[in-house]
Amino acid sequence: MKTNKPVLRKDVAFINRQKELAFLGEYIGEKPESILFLHGPKSSGKTTLLYKFLEQAGKKQDLDIKFLNLRETLTNVYEDFLKAFFNVQGEGEKKGIQPVLVIDELQALDKVYIDNDKERQLIIALFNFFVAMTKERHLAHIIIASSDGYFLNTVYTDSRLKKAAKFYKVDYLCKEDVMDWLLNLEKYSKIKAYRLTKEDVEKIWDAVGGSMWEIQDILSYLFQAPLEEVLASYIKRIRSLIVTYMVKSEKNELERLLRRFIDSDELPQEEIGPVEEKLLSDMVRQNILYFDPTEAKYYPQGKSYQNGIRAYFKKD
Ligand SMILES: Nc1ncnc2c1ncn2[C@@H]1O[C@H](COP(=O)(O)OP(=O)(O)O)[C@@H](O)[C@H]1O
Ligand SMILES: [Mg+2]
Repeated sequence: MKTNKPVLRKDVAFINRQKELAFLGEYIGEKPESILFLHGPKSSGKTTLLYKFLEQAGKKQDLDIKFLNLRETLTNVYEDFLKAFFNVQGEGEKKGIQPVLVIDELQALDKVYIDNDKERQLIIALFNFFVAMTKERHLAHIIIASSDGYFLNTVYTDSRLKKAAKFYKVDYLCKEDVMDWLLNLEKYSKIKAYRLTKEDVEKIWDAVGGSMWEIQDILSYLFQAPLEEVLASYIKRIRSLIVTYMVKSEKNELERLLRRFIDSDELPQEEIGPVEEKLLSDMVRQNILYFDPTEAKYYPQGKSYQNGIRAYFKKD
């Protein structure tokens, strides 16, 4: 398992994030009091933000950073966790430097958590240990990132994290940031081959919103094809992902649920029953929907999925 300092790629755009960086700066600047849960839809920039932040913060103060990416390996999770943890604690205490433990992609644990009672108990014990490290003993900062807000919430409710955890949402870019980026392609993305107009950017925003990964993807296609074509095939592709996902025995129930997102972009948890919840949480796991644990609401995973869902139900 990698626990090295993360390295930020220099060749990709990094837009704004001043507010988020300031928030993290404040969190690290204070005595450890709570675990920080960074949540936000898939590819909303959580990992990139953490890299950027740790790089900046490391220059200002002595941090002992342990970065565990759970998606990279799942072997010896607990052993690695604990090893990294005790290293953090030991070194931190010795040299008086601030230990920071970052656990990225927590959702990688969700299968063992749901399916295996023994593993679940271990994970809960680990989280309770994190409470002791932060809220009770103030020994280390612990930041946990995940795009599966539903799973995050499950771990939160199952352990004694109440009042010992803070949630912070890292969302896709806002429209203003997207405008700034795409009207200045040379500055941010080193693209000289073409320029986009304000109308073009509006179209991209309508198709994928502030989803940076998708914007980058679209930009790469624009070297070969006109914008309208690229966007149309983009929505078509998301639609086909939904079609493929729906080939299940529960297709009718799934369609009934997804229909709710045709006219609205949110579905509050209080409006659904336990059977529906199971289907919805699977759609969260498969990154079709996003669950916001602080609002207890389901959303389509970004604008492209909202459009894909609409395209799925459109009879033509
Ligand atoms: N502030 C930003 N500006 C532009 N692109 C970004 C920014 N943050 C992230 N990205 C891009 O978005 C994509 C997803 O980011 P990532 O950090 O992996 O998301 P997450 O960890 O939330 O799934 C990457 O391609 C990354 O380069
Ligand atoms: Mg990530």
